[in-house]
Amino acid sequence: MKQAIAVHQNDLPVSEMAKSLVGSEIIKLAGQIKKKIAAGEKIRNFTIGDFDPEIFPIPDALKSAIVSAYENNETNYPAANGLLSLRETVSDFIGHYGHFDYTADEILISGGARPLIHAVYQTIVDPGDRVVFPVPSWNNNHYTHLSRGEAIFVETQPEDHFMPSAENLHPHLPHARLVALCSPLNPTGTTFTEEGLRAICTAVLEENKRRKGTGSKPLYLLFDQIYWMLMHGETRHFDPVTLVPELRDYTIYIDGISKAFAATGVRVGWAFGPAGIIGKMRAILSHIGAWAPKAEQVASAKFLSNISACDAYLADFKQKIGHLLNGLYKGFVALETAGYRVQAIAPQAAIYLTVRFDLKGCKTHTGKVLENTREITQYLLNEAGLALVPFHAFGASEDSTWFRLSVGTARLETLPDLFADLKTALDRLS
Ligand SMILES: Cc1ncc(COP(=O)(O)O)c(C=O)c1O
Repeated sequence: MKQAIAVHQNDLPVSEMAKSLVGSEIIKLAGQIKKKIAAGEKIRNFTIGDFDPEIFPIPDALKSAIVSAYENNETNYPAANGLLSLRETVSDFIGHYGHFDYTADEILISGGARPLIHAVYQTIVDPGDRVVFPVPSWNNNHYTHLSRGEAIFVETQPEDHFMPSAENLHPHLPHARLVALCSPLNPTGTTFTEEGLRAICTAVLEENKRRKGTGSKPLYLLFDQIYWMLMHGETRHFDPVTLVPELRDYTIYIDGISKAFAATGVRVGWAFGPAGIIGKMRAILSHIGAWAPKAEQVASAKFLSNISACDAYLADFKQKIGHLLNGLYKGFVALETAGYRVQAIAPQAAIYLTVRFDLKGCKTHTGKVLENTREITQYLLNEAGLALVPFHAFGASEDSTWFRLSVGTARLETLPDLFADLKTALDRLS
């Protein structure tokens, strides 16, 4: 029988980077939720930034194209920067749905968005370089850590819908190598306004003008728009280069099919930006081998070039997501109106709702006072069967009482029951 090696994780003789890598809080929470579900507890799990394929399957046309690609033996290495047919299709796709004018040579395909984000950091950031990003935001702290950079957290505010402003970022720009932005934002489901993003872009451009001729390297902008196809209501998507075209040489976009087409497990993402940077990212990823599988690339090229199939899928998908987000939002507004200490930000985009449980200092029926966010999270999980991720898991301060609700695995018909249980749990607090 194999003997387990009893070495504590922190004592392993590994690199300092590996030793100090922080595990995902969300994964820890997920383990706890799994146990509760296995024990038969009724848990509504809003923690996962993914889709339940039973509720949100990928488009049929994409699925059948993947199957036929395997039947046609599309199983050898794809080109290191992605199949030309897919890069050409992505060029047309982003031009059709946005104002993007990028050729196939300025586009890089990879196994989802994650390797591309990593490659941007690896291409731009040297050890010790500063990376500026707003918090809460998704995983920038980890990508900065992997590139041995220095993370500059810029905490955003609920009154700004948790989006950063030029004013917030400005003091940090002179010393930074990379600004990492995301809109629509994970975890909040909120977006940049046109004026808000334009002001940031202007500040980044001014900083680059200041650096010209000084020998300093430029300030780059990573713009993650993986959720841009999922805008709700009147909300519009804005992006840096469309607003400020002179930023083209400094901006790298992250995008893909994972969220737009509920295809998180299919693993096809793309980046686009200046050809030189994209070329370096390709070189880095070719050593890692983080290609999207060839059959999925062939199929994605076929599907994404079928605009009417994309439109039909998106219309239905966005409607379902929108109903869920609005149903939840209305439920929270009703609770707030009835005097409960909750708050929600109206949904704008993506699959997330931002809610606040201002329950610090409340006493439970057992006489225990909820002291911090961790205890509020546990109370909601144990007493209302409601599983949410607190914003501090996305880098916000420990005492933030704001949470992310993800609807990718939720069913509309379960909401009345959820709000009834939540109300009971809140009623038991004093
Ligand atoms: C903002 C953001 N960017 C990128 C990703 C990763 O996308 P992918 O699954 O394509 O790697 C996620 C996944 O949750 C995300 O929320």
